Amino acid sequence: MMRGAFLDSGLRTQFRRELLRWFGREKRSLPWRGERDAYRILVSEIMLQQTRVAVVTNRYKQFLRKFPSVSRLARANESSVLAAWSGLGYYRRARNLHAAAKHIHSNDRFPTSAAELAQLPGIGRYTAAAVASIAFGEPVAVVDGNVKRVIQRLAGKEVSDDTCWKTAQELLELGRPGDFNQAMMELGATICLPATPVCTRCPVIGFCKSRGTTARAGAPVVRRKTATLSYLFVRRNGAVLLEQRPKNASLMPAMWELPLIKGSHKGNNQPLLKLRHSITTTDYTILVFSRGKEYGGKWIPQDSVSRLPLTGLARKILCRLKLL
Ligand code: ADE
Repeated sequence: MMRGAFLDSGLRTQFRRELLRWFGREKRSLPWRGERDAYRILVSEIMLQQTRVAVVTNRYKQFLRKFPSVSRLARANESSVLAAWSGLGYYRRARNLHAAAKHIHSNDRFPTSAAELAQLPGIGRYTAAAVASIAFGEPVAVVDGNVKRVIQRLAGKEVSDDTCWKTAQELLELGRPGDFNQAMMELGATICLPATPVCTRCPVIGFCKSRGTTARAGAPVVRRKTATLSYLFVRRNGAVLLEQRPKNASLMPAMWELPLIKGSHKGNNQPLLKLRHSITTTDYTILVFSRGKEYGGKWIPQDSVSRLPLTGLARKILCRLKLL
């Protein structure tokens, strides 16, 4: 699209007004909404990158109770940061956030521009712009998956990432960049949905070329896989058997989980617990058995389990079994 601007300047003004009016009226009430503290905004944006809002809503306040400031996070040990991140997945984000907090703490200054924020570990173009615009009012646009879909629908065609960033910047309300950016994301998250956009409730339908016709724009169809995993849950003398993942594992290194039962899942004993768990594109059936061969692992006293960096799945299983 769009050699020149996607909407001419008069229409852009109207677009901003309609979008912001809608956002003021309809925005979801979320724990980080209205927040002005840059550190707390940074935490929310990093958590929201790859994790659903419902999950982040649960974990955000807990994380901030444990690490209420950059300096408290900077001074924490990594294992307690990973433990507080448990359930959010993509643990590299927690390590990077921890490293970023150390940088900020040692410079004794929170970077205020997107350009400076982007120098911190793990902070890419999106997060830098989100924090700079929401916390410091810098007029920089954000593009995430939701914004990209909104822009493609408005334009009525697929557009490159580069064009999306340019278009988002052209549309941005320079006087209220934080609200505008959040409004674009909110529109994508609640109205301009990947499969079935709710065009009848869209505040900017008058500016849209698709109006629901390119329903799947920006949502590649992913083929989901299924698999079954079996775990062992055994207790002895007030302790539970857990295993630590290898420090060099590519996924969730050094985190703790229940011992995996290798080989066939078809023993003749009934599982203690059966649940579903999805990681990226795989839907797992998880079976937990109270008997099975013990290969190793470590006996962890029950009352220290919650302080370990557990994988999200281990936390889910232990919660269901009333251990957490
Ligand atoms: N997704 C990520 N950050 C967001 C925000 N601040 N508002 C709405 N959606 C978001």
